[in-house]
Amino acid sequence: MGQRGRIPEQGGASVTSSPQQPQEQPSTYFVQDRSNEAELTRLHIQDQMLTKAMGGVLPEQPDPSRFSRILDVGCGTGDWLIEAAQTYPHLSLLIGVDASRNLLAYARDQAEAQGVSERVEFQVMDALRRLDFPRHYFDLVNHRAAGSWLRTWDWPKLLSEYQRVCKPGGVIRLTESDLMAYSSSEALTRLFELLVEAFHQAGHFFTAKSDGVVSELARLLQQHGVQQVQTRAYKMEFRMATESGQHFAEDMRLAFRTSLPFIRKWRGPSEDYEELYQRMLNDLRQPNLVITWPMLTAWGTNVGA
Ligand SMILES: C[S@@+](CC[C@H](N)C(=O)[O-])C[C@H]1O[C@@H](n2cnc3c(N)ncnc32)[C@H](O)[C@@H]1O
Repeated sequence: MGQRGRIPEQGGASVTSSPQQPQEQPSTYFVQDRSNEAELTRLHIQDQMLTKAMGGVLPEQPDPSRFSRILDVGCGTGDWLIEAAQTYPHLSLLIGVDASRNLLAYARDQAEAQGVSERVEFQVMDALRRLDFPRHYFDLVNHRAAGSWLRTWDWPKLLSEYQRVCKPGGVIRLTESDLMAYSSSEALTRLFELLVEAFHQAGHFFTAKSDGVVSELARLLQQHGVQQVQTRAYKMEFRMATESGQHFAEDMRLAFRTSLPFIRKWRGPSEDYEELYQRMLNDLRQPNLVITWPMLTAWGTNVGA
């Protein structure tokens, strides 16, 4: 399969940065500020937690050796892609795109530090506009946690772009989490409920339930002509006394701060928010607290667009 190198444009010329950068659109991501440092830290922590709990970067794929070029859309800190490069040295080119320059600057530094920058590239791109790659270029198109920036009406265009840039016979792979981590902490449950309401009001969720994106993934792929769609469900478990439990607690500590403007905007003010937040922090310090958090990967074969 493909060689690494400059990416030919559809007309055959090389992709170079345009002298006039397209105007940056307001973000649909739940954290508006693309340079938010707390969000960078949170995404890095969350990546470690999720990839480990799922058993690796491509745990359900029977034969990753058939992939050569892979694309990760909304790649954030690039951790998933960097780990994919380390796990699968045969991958010739791994490209991550994200709307945040700040996250990608960090991702590039990480790729350099991990010694994979020869094969791993990051490009600033607004995936809601167009994926600036040639037709049938990638063997695998991946995204994780994109419900955080996709509104329900964005999926058809995005999936058709995935189908265009993915080779016929290649794989389109989507992973999303439930927006509720289950535990005995009433405060944590209530905060998640506020977040679900906000995501639904903002148009990101197909239903007002915490699985308002997860439950739609297989249908979305099938409806858009992706073949042989399969799913794998995960029930991640975090115990507060363990390292992954500590990661979860830190993720929540940051998430329910950075998401507050989004919750206020879409769900309206909640007078007891600060009290709930403090109670949640306290609950997450209890070593016996156990959290279960459902996730789902849906994938299928591209027939080509
Ligand atoms: C929840 S994070 C997930 C990051 C990564 N996929 C992971 O699972 O660790 C969502 C990412 O999507 C990016 N994003 C938001 N809107 C985007 C857009 N229109 N195009 C590309 N990326 C976008 C954000 O900057 C953020 O890095």
